[in-house]
Amino acid sequence: MFRKTLLDLAGRGALKPLPVTLSLLPIRSRSTSATDHHHTELARERSKTVTSFYNQSGIDISAEKASVRLTPTTMLYSGRSQDGSHILKSARYLHKELPVRISHRIKGFRSLPFIIGCNPTILHVHELYIRAFQKLSEFPPISDHETESQYCKLLRQLLDDHKDVVTQLAEGLRESRKHIQDEKVISYFLDKTLTSRLGIRMLATHHLALHEERPDFVGIICTRLWPKKIIEKWVDFARRLCEHKYGNAPRVRINGHVAARFPFIPMPLDYILPELLKNSMRATMESHIDTPYNVPDISITIANNDIDFIIRISDRGGGIPHDHLERVMDYHFTTAETSTQDPRINPIFGNMVDMVNSGQSGPMHGFGFGLPTSRAYAEYLGGSLCIQSLQGIGTDVYLRLKHIDGREESFRI
Ligand SMILES: Nc1ncnc2c1ncn2[C@@H]1O[C@H](COP(=O)(O)OP(=O)(O)O)[C@@H](O)[C@H]1O
Ligand SMILES: [Mg+2]
Repeated sequence: MFRKTLLDLAGRGALKPLPVTLSLLPIRSRSTSATDHHHTELARERSKTVTSFYNQSGIDISAEKASVRLTPTTMLYSGRSQDGSHILKSARYLHKELPVRISHRIKGFRSLPFIIGCNPTILHVHELYIRAFQKLSEFPPISDHETESQYCKLLRQLLDDHKDVVTQLAEGLRESRKHIQDEKVISYFLDKTLTSRLGIRMLATHHLALHEERPDFVGIICTRLWPKKIIEKWVDFARRLCEHKYGNAPRVRINGHVAARFPFIPMPLDYILPELLKNSMRATMESHIDTPYNVPDISITIANNDIDFIIRISDRGGGIPHDHLERVMDYHFTTAETSTQDPRINPIFGNMVDMVNSGQSGPMHGFGFGLPTSRAYAEYLGGSLCIQSLQGIGTDVYLRLKHIDGREESFRI
């Protein structure tokens, strides 16, 4: 029994448990240079986590349960009450829901091929999920506002503990994935893990934000989101980065339904837009490397209707070559190395998914995560991300997202 659960963790039944324990060591030993007291604290904390690797019946039971996904409309209308009862209700929903979602992800880690599951960085993320599961499922029932505020503290801490997970997964899989024949194993795992993470982070942030009064906001839902404004915000951001690297940046013209405003959640746009803009700017600059002060504009069109809204980003960056087109949506596909080899280009312009996410300039450049992650997020929200390459001229990217109050059924978070 004991042996079986440990082996399950490694995702495969045929190998000895030893490698798992061993590969945990480098991560754990990171934090050992402390005082004696700190040392025992750490030792206790460590042994607790190790035990949790063996004691998995809680995870198994939870993983059998179905996740309950909410529509943004439900979140919007249950987001207000005079007496604050909506806060307790929201916390109770999370208290029940988060362990289920996290146990599903732990199952995902367990079913990774052994060689990948043993990668120290992947194992570290796996362990982060197990710790999160334990902390969340051990938390007492939310009976009053006092426990609720403790619960918020825990949520904040977990959001912080997990902020670098995308970078860590990208790094951990970059080397180990070469041992895997079937590309789909990786993309399925990443699509699932990253979109589920987005959902969990949206729910947790929504709950925390319910405590704040912000005009035009209920939790994380903006009741009058203005696409033009949020696009402009990320244009400024990407242009600054681009100028830093290439000495100049293309101008961006926004047209179409520039006045449209509607309820939506800014968070996914805050992940996707900088990725797309950065790609377009990089392509524009690199295809005009000898005339950096005279580069073509990028043009963005907003189209709004009663079912969805579409943001099209058109650049004149030369397009995506035929032989790359199939692969640009693959995780880890990047041409960043080719441009770092060009002495005319600074090597710091890559993928910003996590940089934005964690508010720091993380090591996420050139991981080849921008497009696949953006597409996974768009699809998770009932939308799509499509690319049209006009080889020799430029690229059009179409980001399509469903309205949360549209004529058709909304997505669920
Ligand atoms: N607008 C674009 N024009 C030309 N090539 C692009 C464009 N967007 C993406 N690409 C190509 O797709 C690759 C993958 O993009 P992405 O997933 O964002 O990863 P990264 O930016 O880290 O390389 C890029 O390296 C680039 O070769
Ligand atoms: Mg990119």
